[in-house]
Amino acid sequence: MSDEGKGRLVVVSNRIPLSKPPAGGLVVALDDALRGSGGLWVGAAEEVVETPRDHLVEHPADGYTKLSFDLTAADRNEYYLGYSNGVLWPLCHRRSDLIDFRPEYREGYMRVNRRIAGLLKDLLRPDDRLWIHDYHFLPLAHCLRELGVDVTMGFFLHIPFPTHTDLEALSQPEAFLQWMAAHDLVGLQSQSDVASFLAAIRRAPRGELLPDGMVSYADRRFRIASFPIGIAPQEFAEASVAIDGSDLIGPDRRGAKLMIGVDRLDYSKGIPHRLRGFESYLDTRGPDMPRATLLQIAPPSRSEILAYKEIRAELEQIAGAVNGKHAELDWTPIRYLHRNIPREVLAPLFRAADAAMVTPLADGMNLVAKEYIAAQDPDNPGVLILSRFAGAAEQLKSSVMVNPYDRSQMAEAIGRALTMSREERRARHVEARANVFEHDIAEWSANFLRALGDVRGPGLSVDAGG
Ligand code: ADP
Ligand code: G6P
Repeated sequence: MSDEGKGRLVVVSNRIPLSKPPAGGLVVALDDALRGSGGLWVGAAEEVVETPRDHLVEHPADGYTKLSFDLTAADRNEYYLGYSNGVLWPLCHRRSDLIDFRPEYREGYMRVNRRIAGLLKDLLRPDDRLWIHDYHFLPLAHCLRELGVDVTMGFFLHIPFPTHTDLEALSQPEAFLQWMAAHDLVGLQSQSDVASFLAAIRRAPRGELLPDGMVSYADRRFRIASFPIGIAPQEFAEASVAIDGSDLIGPDRRGAKLMIGVDRLDYSKGIPHRLRGFESYLDTRGPDMPRATLLQIAPPSRSEILAYKEIRAELEQIAGAVNGKHAELDWTPIRYLHRNIPREVLAPLFRAADAAMVTPLADGMNLVAKEYIAAQDPDNPGVLILSRFAGAAEQLKSSVMVNPYDRSQMAEAIGRALTMSREERRARHVEARANVFEHDIAEWSANFLRALGDVRGPGLSVDAGG
């Protein structure tokens, strides 16, 4: 993905790894992509300020330029915690019951998007390509068009696209499509997300599916397609053998198989469902079924939000109850770590695990599923237990697929995974591995940028979005 002769690539996302190593699907993926391509990455500063500066601040970076914008405490509360993570996140993850609408959240969200649009207007040159990421910046392109900025703009949504019924939970559902229409290209994770988007366009009075495969909304035409995100599999595979993961885990699992779960502590990840499925396995396991330890690594995330405090309490309660019921002197069934773990440690742990449980109730893609596959020993691989509600399920079809709401199905899947013959494990892994290695992060960004380069053919309207 070269920049030559095409102007600069300017990437915008809320989260940018400034002082901390990347964790969370978006920064892991973009850091991998930009290290390969160069360009500029604009994101939020880590510390809030009293008065935001009127310019972007440059930070040291390797291979690409990092620039940050300031947020005030009110911005963080209203734009990031409030509207992005208290309204849009639950909306897109089928949890409209958790939406916390407050007028100041939407006002703060629009205020920050308008401010960033002003900062970008000063930065952008006419031949730059702007690539906007995720739900924090749904209206950014629209705000830029209103300021008269006419560069090519692409958008990628890392999380699921809401169904049209979920969209109705927004006070102004039509704004969502109008904001999307300000881009030249909209990228989504899965085919099912594209289907949801097209269904919303079909139902919208001002929306139309055009015969050339483009979509029109009001006075704009744009392209929409799925670009399933990948990982840097080779790096992950190399990290997985640098140290022996089984040496990292203490002795209190004698004779037990190792299962692993790694997720930000988020209600969309189905962690309580996973623990309950694991509990059912322990409750019903016959004498010929192995003991198992589930190592659950779940670092804190968005912990100021009530729903996140509640999921933490729920998880701790279930883990305590299951361990109280099933632990023995030499075996703790659930080991729960509430912290970040460096990639150099995660990868060997993945390799050491006989199975991984990736059980989201809704997830754009889920990189952990791909990382687990990349980390396996091809000769003696572990088994991926994967929710059918993860975007990754469209690609990793040879996984043991589960419905996380069905406890007994989860228990059965665990039993199957832990007793599966080596031959079957290898056959399943070979298929998944080919997919993860072939469709990697470099392919993802190259495909998106190629499509972005192609989309602005002659005749495409670039009027400001209505
Ligand atoms: P999400 O984007 O919703 O957080 P993904 O599974 O797509 O979910 O991406 C999560 C990324 O964050 C993966 O690259 C994963 O390895 C990383 N990650 C998750 N938990 C941890 C942790 N405890 N420590 C370090 N990295 C983590
Ligand atoms: C998901 C979202 C990203 C977000 C990440 C971590 O991957 O798609 O936009 O950065 O979660 O969440 P956080 O709120 O910590 O940025």
